[in-house]
Amino acid sequence: MSADKEIKFSDDAYALVQKIIKRYPEGKQKSALIPILHVAQAEFNGWLSAPVMDYVASLLNITSIEVYEVASFYTMFNLKPVGKCVIEVCRTGPCWLMGAEDLVKYLEKKLDIKEGQTTADGMFTLKTAECLASCGTAPMMQIGEKYHENLTLNKVDQILDECRATVTEPISHWSKKEIKA
Ligand code: FES
Repeated sequence: MSADKEIKFSDDAYALVQKIIKRYPEGKQKSALIPILHVAQAEFNGWLSAPVMDYVASLLNITSIEVYEVASFYTMFNLKPVGKCVIEVCRTGPCWLMGAEDLVKYLEKKLDIKEGQTTADGMFTLKTAECLASCGTAPMMQIGEKYHENLTLNKVDQILDECRATVTEPISHWSKKEIKA
């Protein structure tokens, strides 16, 4: 069996994808691409492989390159395998001024990885992102759908411990809960 044949949305995710596509006028299915990529990322272990992006392209009747272009532009999409918790530390001015640089260095040391890498146990991936629109509570970071704000090193320790204790499968910006809703 080819890898392509193994790529298929669950029934719930497929129903949601069809619902999303119907939001747009006939011939404008491409407009559904970003929300569908979120669904795909949530469905397929937190990242978008080439076969997954090809599958999304086939559902929208667009070319694979159109999907690759969008998926590779936004930092919220992962193009390689990631840990169960993807940590995105905001690195834009206000967060940087409030200590984001130290947070990134602290996380790199604590997790024994560099930015862009995943821990050996597959639990954490460390990324940085541009402004996540929570400048008033800088420094901040996002894990899945959740914002962690007014961060201190102690708070970061607590968040990592909580992830280790509670997270058993990859968490994405678009949760499985929403797919079933
Ligand atoms: Fe970090 Fe805006 S600068 S949320």
